[in-house]
Amino acid sequence: MTSVELSGKVALITGASRGIGYGVAEALVARGDRVCITGRNEDTLKAAVEALGADRVIGVAGKAHDEEHQAVAVARTMEAFGRVDHLVNNAGTNPVFGAIADLDLNVVRKIFETNVLSALGFAQRTWHAWQKENGGAIVNIASVAGLSASPFIGAYGVSKAAMINLTQQLAHEFAPTVRVNAIAPAVVKTKFAQALYEGREAEAAASYPLGRLGVPSDVGGAAAFLTSEQSDWITGQTLVVDGGIFLNAGVG
Ligand SMILES: NC(=O)c1ccc[n+]([C@@H]2O[C@H](COP(=O)([O-])OP(=O)(O)OC[C@H]3O[C@@H](n4cnc5c(N)ncnc54)[C@H](OP(=O)(O)O)[C@@H]3O)[C@@H](O)[C@H]2O)c1
Repeated sequence: MTSVELSGKVALITGASRGIGYGVAEALVARGDRVCITGRNEDTLKAAVEALGADRVIGVAGKAHDEEHQAVAVARTMEAFGRVDHLVNNAGTNPVFGAIADLDLNVVRKIFETNVLSALGFAQRTWHAWQKENGGAIVNIASVAGLSASPFIGAYGVSKAAMINLTQQLAHEFAPTVRVNAIAPAVVKTKFAQALYEGREAEAAASYPLGRLGVPSDVGGAAAFLTSEQSDWITGQTLVVDGGIFLNAGVG
């Protein structure tokens, strides 16, 4: 990877020590970007930086919703690389399964804080630090759960729907300098989604027209596209990356 010529661009990717965020980091480093990744666990983050290439990747540990962490992550990116062209808001949480009728509202607050407010907080900071004057792109990792009702993960779905509207608001507000888009994946094989397919992957994959569950590089490719010149006339959109599972919604 380190033999790849630098693109001159810099990306900040939240929650990227494993899973989808790591897949996005791999895709962006492979095309020559320098990257700052975040995550809560310092050891895992350090290992990810080493694996991606410490000559062009830095890690800043912290919780995505923590405003001080947001400020430090953006400042460290600017110090290390002198710019922050792209922001990928990937860190997300879903601590509960079940109906929302009796859900503890403090849990809902926590979900919104991590999935929605942190994305807005990071976007405000990269906008003021670099993007407002110099341009760039923001990609929010939402979910197909934000596009329709999802039994058992309702509060998560509501937060991802908010993230999709946040994408539209920011796209309108930050145009024409910065493009803002979202990606809505279906089940991607990561620790986060393990409970949805572990021990029954073939059965879970059978409902996908493309015959398999997603892998982090599927989302990495989409994020690379949305942060490239190939998508220069696309903003405010949500790209569904779902192996075709939404095609099943019709009757018959
Ligand atoms: N996997 C799926 O099927 C799927 C589908 C649709 C959407 N998504 C979305 O994709 C995003 C990534 O999910 P994933 O499946 O890749 O999860 P994952 O495998 O659990 O990875 C999550 C990453 O984010 C970090 N992280 C978690 N909570 C954080 C926090 N509060 N602050 C900072 N970093 C945090 C984790 O490291 P630490 O634990 O060390 O913090 C890890 O690096 C989420 O927004 C999720 O909602 C996932």
